[in-house]
Amino acid sequence: MSGTDARRVAIVTGGARRLGRHLCLSLASRGYDIVVIYRASEDDARSLVREIHATGRKARAIRVDVAHRAQVAKAFADIARTDGRVDLLINNVGNYNPQDVTRLDPEVWDATISANLSGAYYCCYHALTLMPEGGNIINIGMAGLEGIRANRRGTDYFVSKTGLLVLTRALAAGYATRQVRVNMVSPGQLENSIDLPPENEIGQWVPLGRSGTLDDISQAVHYLLDATYVTGVNIDVAGGYRL
Ligand SMILES: NC(=O)c1ccc[n+]([C@@H]2O[C@H](COP(=O)([O-])OP(=O)(O)OC[C@H]3O[C@@H](n4cnc5c(N)ncnc54)[C@H](OP(=O)(O)O)[C@@H]3O)[C@@H](O)[C@H]2O)c1
Repeated sequence: MSGTDARRVAIVTGGARRLGRHLCLSLASRGYDIVVIYRASEDDARSLVREIHATGRKARAIRVDVAHRAQVAKAFADIARTDGRVDLLINNVGNYNPQDVTRLDPEVWDATISANLSGAYYCCYHALTLMPEGGNIINIGMAGLEGIRANRRGTDYFVSKTGLLVLTRALAAGYATRQVRVNMVSPGQLENSIDLPPENEIGQWVPLGRSGTLDDISQAVHYLLDATYVTGVNIDVAGGYRL
């Protein structure tokens, strides 16, 4: 395995729909072969694979619940056999089922932490064994993680994303000597957000006065792939949301 091989393989968790799908397509156009990790959206995953094939790149989809350690291990054993390398891992799974902290169901807590945080770690753990020099991990966060503050609604989600930031920095420090970079990109209010305020009110929440596009996020991902001296950072791509 060498960082100079022509073929590059990117894995995107939660890749079949929405932001994950957009990232898969944009990475395919950058020349990556794509492994789409999905959990339930099989039709979307299949249509995405067809769409990437039509561009001339390789792609395949694997059904994995990332919250299950054994399923992640099995998927990466398959990736090791079939692809032999992982040049880029994007941990995009990020479930958000907001409840007020005074009514936060422990089952929701467990599900959020296991998918958003433990699942990301399981994927990092296995991907790193297959990553050549020059490899990248990009974790998808949430704007405004810097500085601990109260988030009554969606506490489990914010805890998972804060943990992911701590993990990002630790892995960046731990793997820098292998020239593997680990960074985070944090959206704020994307145009498809379930919490999106009305267009005429968004300026109250987002200083730049608009919701984020999927292109805004992929632009930051591409920046990080180009920026070979950048590791351990979190980039809020959020128009100033939660500054
Ligand atoms: N949208 C926003 O406004 C916004 C704002 C801030 C941050 N973000 C972050 O951006 C990322 C993408 O957001 P999104 O709104 O596009 O995500 P999403 O639609 O909520 O979820 C993306 C995919 O994650 C997959 N998934 C969930 N649990 C899984 C599991 N246990 N194992 C494997 N796959 C699982 C689902 O796949 P299946 O459909 O196959 O089940 C889903 O399609 C997330 O990390 C989110 O926290 C988004």
